[in-house]
Amino acid sequence: MSFDVDAVGVRNARRIPIHRTLPRLIRDPFGALQAIAEEADGEVVRLELGWFRPYLVTNPDHVQHVLRDNVDNYVRDGQGLFWRPIRRLLGEGILADGPVWEASRRNLQPLFSAKHVESLVDSMADMIAAAVDDLDRYAREGTPIDAGAEMSRIVHLTVIKVFFRDRITVEQAERMVPALDTIATSIAFRLLLPFVPNAVPLPGDRAFRRAVRTIDEIVFPIVRECRRDPGDGDDIVATLCRARGADGQPLTEQQVRDDVVTMFGAATETTGVLLTWLWPVLQAHPEVAGRLYAEVDQVVGSDRVRREHLAGLGYTRMVLDELLRLYPSGWLFPRTAVAGDVIGGVRLRPRATVLISPFLTQRLDAHWADPLEFRPDRFEPGVSGHVHRYAYFPFGGGPHQCIGKHVFLVEAQLIVAAMLSRFRPRLASQAMPGPQVAASLRPASEVRMTLLPVQRTLAA
Ligand code: HEM
Repeated sequence: MSFDVDAVGVRNARRIPIHRTLPRLIRDPFGALQAIAEEADGEVVRLELGWFRPYLVTNPDHVQHVLRDNVDNYVRDGQGLFWRPIRRLLGEGILADGPVWEASRRNLQPLFSAKHVESLVDSMADMIAAAVDDLDRYAREGTPIDAGAEMSRIVHLTVIKVFFRDRITVEQAERMVPALDTIATSIAFRLLLPFVPNAVPLPGDRAFRRAVRTIDEIVFPIVRECRRDPGDGDDIVATLCRARGADGQPLTEQQVRDDVVTMFGAATETTGVLLTWLWPVLQAHPEVAGRLYAEVDQVVGSDRVRREHLAGLGYTRMVLDELLRLYPSGWLFPRTAVAGDVIGGVRLRPRATVLISPFLTQRLDAHWADPLEFRPDRFEPGVSGHVHRYAYFPFGGGPHQCIGKHVFLVEAQLIVAAMLSRFRPRLASQAMPGPQVAASLRPASEVRMTLLPVQRTLAA
């Protein structure tokens, strides 16, 4: 540990040296990071990981400073460490910064407002009900399913419907699902080894390229056709075909494809992964499961899930809020400090990497009572009002705040309600899986479960 304090009381960050951290970081990376976050005790600290020496920012006031108050000083691309491999697929667009990001955000924002999402609820509910129907045969046969794969399939089909409406056939959508999934998993090595140049082959590269080709074969013709006559449709492809880029010109075919595929990546991986955590959590917390089942039974019963049910799914929403606290899919998002800065009396050097993590902040003892316990009651309307805005930020904050929050909340409630109105899960393993180091917070082991059909006694 070392401090240097200057005349005006600004000090260098406390350093967490590598030799103390590395063994635990390898064995139990999330536990090690949590221990560091607790030890930091609200201060900005610097992790000494060899050549990589990022600042870790966990205090809600400081998170707010980086994401909102001094946002112009903290860019996403900078060294491009984490985003670079993803850009190989997605190009520039909404994940960039500056004028390119601004133009993309301006074009896409209206499609994701609460009001516009409201207009999508019926088609989302239909798609979800149909995708959940497909699980019937596994339930009848008692065949276990891989919850991660099934959540991902349901989410992909729903998002494809929302983004493309009727521009895509069922066969095309079904071809896209495994390709999108391959993309999410095949970039693992590129994410973990971001400093390896693209020219050096890594495992997953070939599968990645094949999947990109499949997606392009489907998406480019749709984009081409739509650019000829965008019409006044409000699906994402038509909206982008009518839009203008940072240079004031209509978007090129490539730019439309990049934005569509980026949005896909952001919308599907995050939601599918989050919903996978639900099943082991319900198994570990029978009292939460009981209350959730009772709500879905009462509100949805034997109906097909639809718009009118949403208003009655208050506890479902609280369970999702708590799931997002303990298992935020976007668990780590780095920034680069353009110029030096001082946060909470600690000096940050120019060009340094700053790590922001909802996973860590949302588990801090100083801001949450019994932070490691799964308690949806924290989110009882009116109760969580006292929590600092940036003690809970599963969707980020400031100008880059998640554009898909409303889509997620509606989609996830509908999926949980559709699943639980039909089935009760029985998991193969009693143990709660730990998280895996990946771009999103995935469970480290496959979640296998059998679905038991819900038995309903018919009213006399
Ligand atoms: C569990 C669900 C989700 C979680 C936890 C989540 C989380 C996040 C987080 C933390 C950010 C901020 C990243 C940063 O500041 O660098 C973000 C940004 C973003 N999210 Fe989500 N997201 C989810 C679902 C979605 C969905 C459903 C969509 C699209 C329909 C979406 C699209 C985006 C986009 C486009 C951005 C970039 C926004 C910008 O920079 O202007 N996300 N998300």
